[in-house]
Amino acid sequence: MPITYDKKKKIFTLNTKNSTYQFMIDDYKNLLHLYYGRKSNGIMKNFLIERARSFSGVFDDEHEGHSLDYLPQEFPVQGTGDFRSPLLIVRDENGTFGCNLTYINHTIRDGKYRLNGLPAAYENSGDDAKTLEIILYNNRLDLSVKILYGVLPELDIITRSAIIFNNSSRKITIEKIQSACLDFTHGKFDVINFQGRHAMERQFERRELLHGSTVIESRRGMSSHQNNPLVILSDHDATENSGRCWAMMFVYSGEFKAEISRDQYDQTRFQMGLSDEKFSYVLDPDKKMTVPEVIMTFSASGFEKISHNLHDCIRKNICRGFWRDRARPVVLNSWEAFYFGISGAKLLDMAKHAKNLGVDMLVIDDGWFLNRNDELHALGDWTPDENKLGMNLETLVKEINAIGLDVGLWLEPEMVSEDSNLYREHPDWAFVIPNEVPLKSRHQLVLDLSNRKVRKYILDFIFEILDSSNIKYLKWDYNRSISEVYSHAAKNQGKVLYEYILGLYEILDKINAKYPEILIEGCSGGGGRFDAGMMYYTPQIWCSDNTDAIDRLYIQHGTSFGYPASVTAAHVSVCPNHQNGRITPLPTRGIVAMTGAFGYELDPAKLSNDEQLEIQAQISRYKSLRKIITDGFYYRLSNPFSENFCAWEYISRDRRKFLLNVVILRCHGNMPEFYVTPRGLKPGKFYRNVNDGEIYASDALMDSGFALPMPKRDFESYTYLFEIV
Ligand code: GLA
Repeated sequence: MPITYDKKKKIFTLNTKNSTYQFMIDDYKNLLHLYYGRKSNGIMKNFLIERARSFSGVFDDEHEGHSLDYLPQEFPVQGTGDFRSPLLIVRDENGTFGCNLTYINHTIRDGKYRLNGLPAAYENSGDDAKTLEIILYNNRLDLSVKILYGVLPELDIITRSAIIFNNSSRKITIEKIQSACLDFTHGKFDVINFQGRHAMERQFERRELLHGSTVIESRRGMSSHQNNPLVILSDHDATENSGRCWAMMFVYSGEFKAEISRDQYDQTRFQMGLSDEKFSYVLDPDKKMTVPEVIMTFSASGFEKISHNLHDCIRKNICRGFWRDRARPVVLNSWEAFYFGISGAKLLDMAKHAKNLGVDMLVIDDGWFLNRNDELHALGDWTPDENKLGMNLETLVKEINAIGLDVGLWLEPEMVSEDSNLYREHPDWAFVIPNEVPLKSRHQLVLDLSNRKVRKYILDFIFEILDSSNIKYLKWDYNRSISEVYSHAAKNQGKVLYEYILGLYEILDKINAKYPEILIEGCSGGGGRFDAGMMYYTPQIWCSDNTDAIDRLYIQHGTSFGYPASVTAAHVSVCPNHQNGRITPLPTRGIVAMTGAFGYELDPAKLSNDEQLEIQAQISRYKSLRKIITDGFYYRLSNPFSENFCAWEYISRDRRKFLLNVVILRCHGNMPEFYVTPRGLKPGKFYRNVNDGEIYASDALMDSGFALPMPKRDFESYTYLFEIV
């Protein structure tokens, strides 16, 4: 049974295929956490040690060992004597902090809860998903919280969310609300996070958890390049395939905060949710607020299993719609080919070459609308530049279609340039604090998506484009952080950032509903909003503006911890690379970009004959392998930070075919041999290397590995397809 309640002992148990999660209601009706770990029967109450401690408050003098200061909790609230970081902080109308929320009742039901206006993992038929709802209540404030647990048993996923209700006739201010909390009474842990910057996102980082707090957060209004909303807590000695790990992934695209802290008694708290920095949510009487979802997963066998669980969940229970299971088009994008210098003639020429190479779709990137010849102008106006395009957009799209290619279009709908008609007409639609000098980033301002009128404007212009032209794909870009938060339309500024994200989701939902076959690729200066929230609306995201194959190895290595290949867009570009000047072999660029949604970012007219042949071969190889890549299991076979090569594997779901990719980093004189050890093969079987027909025993391959040829230069790469014999 995925969810059970032991009425006598007042214990809730959530079971997935390989994990068990347990908590209880104590004598004071608080929820105490008992266990999240490998699947287990029984009651894990032995972890709950009640010991009287000085400086720790109790509700009952007769029961001095029972203090929320150190007992593990499910939903810690500020003001209950728990001095660790809470999930919830509220203030009443007079500004008084704190309330104690106690258990009222609960419901266990079939199916996975959904959240109104927010993305959340959904169930598919056969998932046997279950929901647990628990109502907590505070009498003084007449405030109730419905905490939500979703269980996807086969995927080993447990989700958490909550809805806060103000039942009173007074205002209540929520100063902090987070989604999930895991308390550990003991253990020595590491924190794994994915940090970075523009053009260098999601770099794997691991640290030992010491006393105090480790905070992984974004304060940029977006999930950010700097810290991804995926954090893993692991046993100190966990590896790819050993040790216990717990992951939290936020299904939300705005700013967030994950806090992992070790307390005075060496206990650990791991929590994740909305950032509380620019958040102060006035909850009016009779109103409710929905808390974004956190997806949790546990693995008793290292990071690899965490990744497999999250990949499966994103692929089938987050991504939706027409494109979820479909092969994505191979695209050629105009950005690195022409930047703002595109024209109709160049695009048509590009399309002819692209068709010959085997490309499916031409993406017209930035620069296609009036007055948009650099970064300085015109965002918000979105009128096609017919002079530049040589014709109207509709005709250009038709002509490209006639060559045999679909067409995609770049948009950055959430932004406005100061030099735009939109800003001149509606300066109050941008986030600008009155009497402050507006801060520009990439010379642009952010539109206030919490404002209904702004959302309507955005939808109207997008509908107009999609109704008049045969556009099959939108690249939805977002190229600055939100620094000032001020909505002219809002009564209360403390909820504007949250409502901005709700507004974004509403827009994306409406586009997907009206054009169910449109493919929207998310983008934010590359991967600045690479999160499960966006993936609910945009089933692929441009992974990084950095198209250098070697930097991409590190970016994609980090990305792979949480996100599957199917959502990761990666393109081959020219050399020297435009971001870092590096020269890498074209086959290596191909192998690295064939990591998900594949494409090119170059001017095909400038390719040599050999390069054209190589690209034709890459595209047909990608098309023949794409099912294994996007639907298979992914294995990281090396750590490029500590080893001199980066190796990874995709294996088909039936484990009959696997693809082994290796990129050598540095070549040195007289090097030792390189061996790479595949994982996840069927034991006791034989696999044939399709490249040369050699046959290998699966157990020996998984034990001692596969010898690689001696590389002759830096960044050489190898790709092998193996098939079961
Ligand atoms: C961002 C994107 C790029 C490109 C430019 C266009 O930086 O990440 O891929 O679309 O904007 O201005």
